[in-house]
Amino acid sequence: MTLDESSILITGGGGMLAGAFRRRMPGAHFVARTELDITSERAIEQLFQQHRPAIVINCAAYTKVDQAEQEEDLASAINGHAVGALARACRAHDAMLVHFSTDYVFDGTIRRPLRPDDPVGPQSAYGRSKLLGEQLLQKHAPQRWLIIRTAWLYGPGGPSFPRAILNAAGAGKPLTVVDDQLGSPTYTRDLADATLRLMDLQAPSGIWHLANSGETTWFGFAREILDEFQLRVPVEPIGSEEWKARRPASATRPAYSVLDTSACQQLTGQPMRHWREALTDFRNAMQEP
Ligand SMILES: NC(=O)c1ccc[n+]([C@@H]2O[C@H](COP(=O)([O-])OP(=O)(O)OC[C@H]3O[C@@H](n4cnc5c(N)ncnc54)[C@H](OP(=O)(O)O)[C@@H]3O)[C@@H](O)[C@H]2O)c1
Repeated sequence: MTLDESSILITGGGGMLAGAFRRRMPGAHFVARTELDITSERAIEQLFQQHRPAIVINCAAYTKVDQAEQEEDLASAINGHAVGALARACRAHDAMLVHFSTDYVFDGTIRRPLRPDDPVGPQSAYGRSKLLGEQLLQKHAPQRWLIIRTAWLYGPGGPSFPRAILNAAGAGKPLTVVDDQLGSPTYTRDLADATLRLMDLQAPSGIWHLANSGETTWFGFAREILDEFQLRVPVEPIGSEEWKARRPASATRPAYSVLDTSACQQLTGQPMRHWREALTDFRNAMQEP
């Protein structure tokens, strides 16, 4: 790897994905929300003056998908306008910006792996806020930038679907999981590694899709999590409509959001590994002393 870690600034340093970057690049400069609130342009400018980063990796985000339905302004401020401000600062200081977005910018009607230039149509406040971030980043684009859309992200150190399943199973709660939404669970460590490969190979500025390969439903994912952790707990499948009827305040998620990662594979020469294999590594990481 040819990247100079000390010139890399990582925002949202306390989050789940930032944790995966910290493991790979302990020499990078991580700033948690308490040190940098990305909604403050003044704070961004001060940090640039202080650290003069050559690359900013934005791991800061509002990620509460259901709660965003009640807090769209806040989600838009963090996932949208603040990303525009980061892009402006990177442009002014000639820094590269690497930013993460989501499969939830799609509406789920295209039933084949989604390419970066496929039409978007977010169905939720969170999806709209992330799309706004993509748009504002491109409007104020620095010289070099990457928007990396990923999906169904999980890993050590954050609230995530596997953690919710394991907690519920551990508490003996009955599990009811949606079985008609298809996507690709993605392990933070694989996403961080693939992102660093793209950066290292000077990937051209643009939107990239990165997710573990293969696809499943949330129900299928839940069953494999329980299997991987050897928990014998029954799981009941439920359709999205029934789920929404039981939880009217919940966000609408795309029925299909598998991402086509072939562009990354072509550039790096390495396919993203299958999500099931990554899940085993996650279990190993969780059981590390
Ligand atoms: N999780 C998923 O399933 C998923 C799927 C697709 C894409 N993504 C994207 O992947 C990226 C990384 O997500 P993640 O799972 O690592 O999220 P995460 O664990 O929720 O981390 C986000 C971090 O950003 C911080 N943050 C929130 N508002 C901030 C602000 N105004 N200024 C500075 N920091 C702020 C949070 O701090 P607090 O905890 O204090 O709020 C948290 O530490 C995000 O762009 C997300 O949209 C995630």
